[in-house]
Amino acid sequence: MLSAAAAERNKEPILVVLRESLNTGRLLQALEISSGTGQHVIHFAQALRNITWQPSEYDRKSLVSIEAYRARYPLNNVKPAIHLDASLPHQYWGGIQPETLDLVLNINMMHISPIACTEGLFKGAGAVLKPHGLLLTYGPYAVNGRITPQSNVDFDYSLRQRNPEWGLRDISLLSTLAQRNGLFLEKMVDMPANNKCLLFRKESVV
Ligand SMILES: C[S@@+](CC[C@H](N)C(=O)[O-])C[C@H]1O[C@@H](n2cnc3c(N)ncnc32)[C@H](O)[C@@H]1O
Repeated sequence: MLSAAAAERNKEPILVVLRESLNTGRLLQALEISSGTGQHVIHFAQALRNITWQPSEYDRKSLVSIEAYRARYPLNNVKPAIHLDASLPHQYWGGIQPETLDLVLNINMMHISPIACTEGLFKGAGAVLKPHGLLLTYGPYAVNGRITPQSNVDFDYSLRQRNPEWGLRDISLLSTLAQRNGLFLEKMVDMPANNKCLLFRKESVV
């Protein structure tokens, strides 16, 4: 079981946004893309029992960690983790069928992966979400070409030094990608430590 300090810190604030944004009285289907250690999916599944969660990861070590969390915290609303590369078309997303999901959740991936992953995330979410379904992303973002505060500017710089394909994504770019794929930016929520939750809603008629 891997443990990420950031995930431990942000799991409760993100849960608050999930609770406010989702219907807790209906049975829902969710896919988490880039589940990381598995800390988030277990926390959310314990709190939101009406949602069946499908964790996924690109990294094989993280997949082992998610399965270790599932073994430690047996929950009948968390499916076995699947290997999923967000940059690939949804037809390669472990058999997930079009228009079957109420929620696609993606935490802290876009800035730390090539832009193809961000593009694939929006394209895939546009396909697998039901009409009115929600794509909820969390992380640090640029707003209209501007990154604030200085700590996020420094973070963006350090990411680009590590890998020129990484870096904070601009919300205006994400809105464009959303629109191209039948989604629209419905809401932005400021989160602790200069992060945001972005809520993209799938249009009812695409
Ligand atoms: C900073 S970690 C965040 C993990 C987790 N969501 C969290 O917040 O603790 C970034 C994650 O993006 C994943 N990732 C990188 N490339 C990916 C890809 N092509 N498709 C899906 N996930 C990817 C990594 O494996 C890693 O788990």
